[in-house]
Amino acid sequence: MPQATFHFPRGFLWGTATAAHQVEGNNTNNQWWRWEQDGHTNGTSVLACDWWSGRWREDFDRAAEGGQNAHRLSVEWSRIQPTPDAWDEDALERYRSMLRGLRERGMTPMVTLHHFTDPIWLGDSSSRSTGGWESESVVPLFEKFVRKTVDALKEYCTLWCTINEPNGYALNGYVGGGLSGKFPPGRNSLKLAMQVQANLIRGHAAAYHAIHNIQPEARVGFALHYRSFAPHLSWSPVDRLLTHNASTMLNNIFPMALANGVIRSLLGTIRIPEAKGTQDYFGFNYYTRNHVTFDLRKPETMFSHAFFAKDADLSDHAFLANEPDGMFEGLKWIVRTFPNLPIIVSENGIADANDQLRPRYLAQHVHQMWRAVNFNWPIKGYFHWTLVDNFEWDHGWDLRFGLWALDEKTQKRTKRPAADLYAEICKENGLSSEMVQKYCPEVFDKLFPV
Ligand code: FCB
Repeated sequence: MPQATFHFPRGFLWGTATAAHQVEGNNTNNQWWRWEQDGHTNGTSVLACDWWSGRWREDFDRAAEGGQNAHRLSVEWSRIQPTPDAWDEDALERYRSMLRGLRERGMTPMVTLHHFTDPIWLGDSSSRSTGGWESESVVPLFEKFVRKTVDALKEYCTLWCTINEPNGYALNGYVGGGLSGKFPPGRNSLKLAMQVQANLIRGHAAAYHAIHNIQPEARVGFALHYRSFAPHLSWSPVDRLLTHNASTMLNNIFPMALANGVIRSLLGTIRIPEAKGTQDYFGFNYYTRNHVTFDLRKPETMFSHAFFAKDADLSDHAFLANEPDGMFEGLKWIVRTFPNLPIIVSENGIADANDQLRPRYLAQHVHQMWRAVNFNWPIKGYFHWTLVDNFEWDHGWDLRFGLWALDEKTQKRTKRPAADLYAEICKENGLSSEMVQKYCPEVFDKLFPV
């Protein structure tokens, strides 16, 4: 039986990713809390993982003991700026202790400034801003929040992610039958979705310049939800065109605008010159691949039907398919389209309460990343989604992405086998044939062919 280890470069970041609203609990002052109370989600976030009361400490211990040398978390705008005219210094202090907590455990923090949630006042027509990200007036407000936050946290962090999955935010919130479900505000207008994307790009650009102004050595980027798309019928020009459109719409618009300062879409061209060159690294969230075909019954998605391959290795609730090749393809696209930009895999993971699929999903994706590293593509780190089961947006508590299981009622954590596999990977800075043999022998031949 072959014996080998897929090694990663020295200094590679190995961590997990989390988001404030999904782990903190009692985030009562943002639009997601309201959306939950209005019955749009499968259960409500309630205490989530109870990080706001301090359980981050025990979870950071778990991560550090598991060999992780980095962690990606987000800060909650509605806690830091509860009303347009007030800052909550205690909230900032709490984030400072969390980041100090990471440093004390030898972990590099990566901080996301916006991860799907907005303060309720941002979308409230009685406040100075109306319509949240629908209106350009959000841009200076976001910049002000970013300045305040970065100034408070700069002692502990130099790696910043301005906005998580702006493409997911705009499409899930503003296009009916979006990617994975319905986000607030639950509108259905492609035109509005584009307007929101444009404002997110403006917000990112303003944040990028503000952060560099405060901290010249900062590395600033955003996290793209990248999805691999393949035509169902590879010979069909229609399926190929629909695949191209889906990929352009989801994957290209945001990063191309940051490269060129221009948004080009089916709906027209918008120039945002201040966005040009505002990416110090490429944040890549990769989960899965869709097949795309023409379907007359789908006028709402311009006759495009996206689905998982028939024989796909599916997650709980068929939410995701295990398609590791799509990760390699995405990394290749980044390297070709944005040469010389360092890459961080800012999320990757699978919903799998029983941990049947997670070990092979993890090993197969780490293997694809290793293939990419061996072409000398500049991949600097990997953040698995996620450390402990947390509140999964519209799916609530139905999807379990944690290396650790959570009983959200008792707050008891239970380690899943994949946590041990990931710990071995982090400690070895690589993936070995022994690990694959031990945790997911079913894919041994794929990863170590004779
Ligand atoms: C990503 C989100 C993250 C989490 C994972 C499963 O799209 O950024 O918050 O929900 O999916």
